[in-house]
Formats: sequence, structure tokens, C-alpha cells
Amino acid sequence: MSMKLELEWLVDPLPGAEKLLNRTAEECLKAEGITFPGYAQLQITDDQGIHEINREYRGVDRPTDVLSFPSMPCTPDQTLGANPRRMLRERDETGYCFLGDIIISLPRAREQAAEYGHSLERELCYLTAHALFHLMGYDHMNDKDKERMRAMEEKALNQAGVARVTDEELIALSQKAMEFSYSPYSHFKVGAALLGKSGKVYTGCNIENGSYGATNCAERTALFKAISEGEHEFSAIAIAAEKSAPWPCGICRQALNEFAPDIRVIVTWDGNRDEAPLPVLLPHGFGPKQGTLDFLGKE
Ligand code: THU
Repeated sequence: MSMKLELEWLVDPLPGAEKLLNRTAEECLKAEGITFPGYAQLQITDDQGIHEINREYRGVDRPTDVLSFPSMPCTPDQTLGANPRRMLRERDETGYCFLGDIIISLPRAREQAAEYGHSLERELCYLTAHALFHLMGYDHMNDKDKERMRAMEEKALNQAGVARVTDEELIALSQKAMEFSYSPYSHFKVGAALLGKSGKVYTGCNIENGSYGATNCAERTALFKAISEGEHEFSAIAIAAEKSAPWPCGICRQALNEFAPDIRVIVTWDGNRDEAPLPVLLPHGFGPKQGTLDFLGKE
């Protein structure tokens, strides 16, 4: 291991998280191209704990999800990876370079994990990676820096094997969403869970109406929730029903095609599972480009 996290739990520890966090930290250094050993202190606390630190050291009088305090301030253009000589200079007597301190609020992490539809462990790894890249000089003040930092986080989390929401998790979320189905007319319950490329999951159910045509399918409920929250790219959608395969209807295929023409569609029902990519479900689909005047060669 070329990276150590000195982990301190000020709340009930989460069994198994430490190994995953260390693996993530290791991958963060690797992603940055740092080959000599480093360490950081990571304290996992509650909202009150992080609030006090935020107030005392940053003059910000509120709790937050994560804080990082670099041991050596550097700008995004002078990241430690880009400046290994400096990092070498900063090594302590054990040969390890101290990157700085990280504080995470466990209740905040729990809330965010629920919001994103992934596990608490994964959220803790994400927050740790985010903080570590801050310690290594990354920031997200403008879109370009944000994109660069996000790409590094994703790379490290992927390498650590904690980034992706699994198909099983997505399916479980679709089945949970099915419970909220409003289907007093058809009694055909449908749930959907749509995985955004950001890693966030958007769920939806079918919502029927006494005027039948006003009904909204589960897939479009999930899709519209995602679009209305600013997410436009998707990698997979799980759709659940009770007794028969809930392959998406034509309108939902068309709606998905607008944003994610290559999306994987997974259906589950009554203990069964099947999967197909959207181009198989919607061959020769009409895409967003075909709808523009440009495409038609008109002004
Ligand atoms: N339904 C969906 O939610 N998704 C589909 O792709 C097909 C149909 C819903 C709509 C309606 O509430 C019920 O299933 C029966 O058509």
C-alpha cells in the first residue's frame, strides 16, 4: 500500500468500510500518478462535529458533508502529481507524505447515499476521493476544473471497484419504486430505476388517471424526474412488474431514445429477468437530430 488513511470514527463505525476507503485512497494517488507513499487523516463524525469544525476553521456556521484541509496548499495547476519534487520534499521521517485532514459527516453521507440510490459505503468512498483530490490541489470553481476533478474521482472509484451501481441494485430500486405505482384502473404495477452517468439513480412508477390517456408510464416518470434535475445521459434502466415482462411501450422507447439511444433496458417480473439494448427495441429510431431543421436542410 502506498497510501494510508488514519481513520478515526467519532460515531459508530461501519464494519468493512475501512478496507474499501483505503482501497479508494490508494487508487486516488495512483490516478494522480503518485508513486511514493502518502497518508491522510480521516475523521468520520456527526453533523454537530462537522458543524463545529466548519465554524471554527472556515467561519461557516453550518454542517456540511465533507471538509478537507490540505497540509500544503497548491493550486489546480500545481497538483502534487504535477509537482512530485515538492511532494518528495514534504515527506516525513517515515518516508510518507502527509496530504492533510478530511472530515466527513456520517449522517450527511447516509442522506446522500439514499438520494443517489447507492450504498453508504460507496458514498463514503466518493466523499473521501473528492476530499483527497482537493488535498492534491483539485478544485471545482469553474466547469472545466469541475469536469477534471470529476473525471479523476470517477477513475479512482472505478479502479477501486466502488463506483458503479450494480444491475442488482438498480433492479432492487425498480422493484421498490413499483410499490408506489398508482394504478387503480389497470392494477398493473410498474416501477423503473434509471441510472444516470453521474452515478445517480432516478426512480419512477406508473401514474394512472381517470381520463386514461393522461396516464404516465414508470419509465417516463423516472426519465422526466432526471431531466428536470439536469441529468441528460444514462447508461441503464431497470423496469419491474409483477406478473408479465414490462418491456417499455413505444412512447417510452421513443422518450428514452431522445437522451440515451444506446441505453441497456433490463426487465424483471415474477422472478424472471431479461435485457436488451434500446436499438434492438427501437430499430431505425427517430433521433433528436432528425427533428431539427438543420437535418432537413432547411433554414
Ligand atoms: N405502463 C408502464 O408504466 N410502462 C410501460 O412501458 C408500459 C405500460 C403502465 C401504464 C399503465 O399504468 C399500465 O402500465 C397498464 O398499461
